[in-house]
Amino acid sequence: MSTSSQLPEQRSAPMHERRSFLGALFAIVGGVVSATLAVPLIRFATYPLRATAGGTSWSDVGKMDEFTSLTAPVTRTIHVERVDGWRSSFAQNAVYVVPLGAGKLKVLSSVCPHLGCTVRWVDKQNQFVCPCHGGIFTETGALVHGPPLRAMDSLQTKVENGMLKVRFEYFREQVADKEPMA
Ligand code: FES
Repeated sequence: MSTSSQLPEQRSAPMHERRSFLGALFAIVGGVVSATLAVPLIRFATYPLRATAGGTSWSDVGKMDEFTSLTAPVTRTIHVERVDGWRSSFAQNAVYVVPLGAGKLKVLSSVCPHLGCTVRWVDKQNQFVCPCHGGIFTETGALVHGPPLRAMDSLQTKVENGMLKVRFEYFREQVADKEPMA
């Protein structure tokens, strides 16, 4: 009699252990699968944060051949893509390609470092002139006189497959040092 009353307990113990083992196994496999799927999802979700760090992309200025015989600054309109989180917007900005001699060039922003007016190249004066408050700069963008506290802002450049490219940025106005805007 006592043997038959113990049988159900003896049978249920291994079954219980098997269920626990399978439960743990499923939990581990589920955890590994979730973690594997989570990596691309997290990368996807945080893309805007990582993309924003780049700010603006590189813009084409023109083929290097166009600028090899430059003797004075020339203006070019560039198309700038700005990434802001998930959105990207396009704008046009004017820049100056400036010859430095011996085939060297630099690219200046046309945005006046005083209050942001568009600086003009005046051939007759051989100077850059800001029409708003009379800021004057040399042919390479150095400050001559006027209310601006610094030279015209030079921009980052590179050459790819013969194409001069520039990374356009805005800089803080009315400060002596060039500080990129966030
Ligand atoms: S905005 Fe250029 S001098 Fe004031």
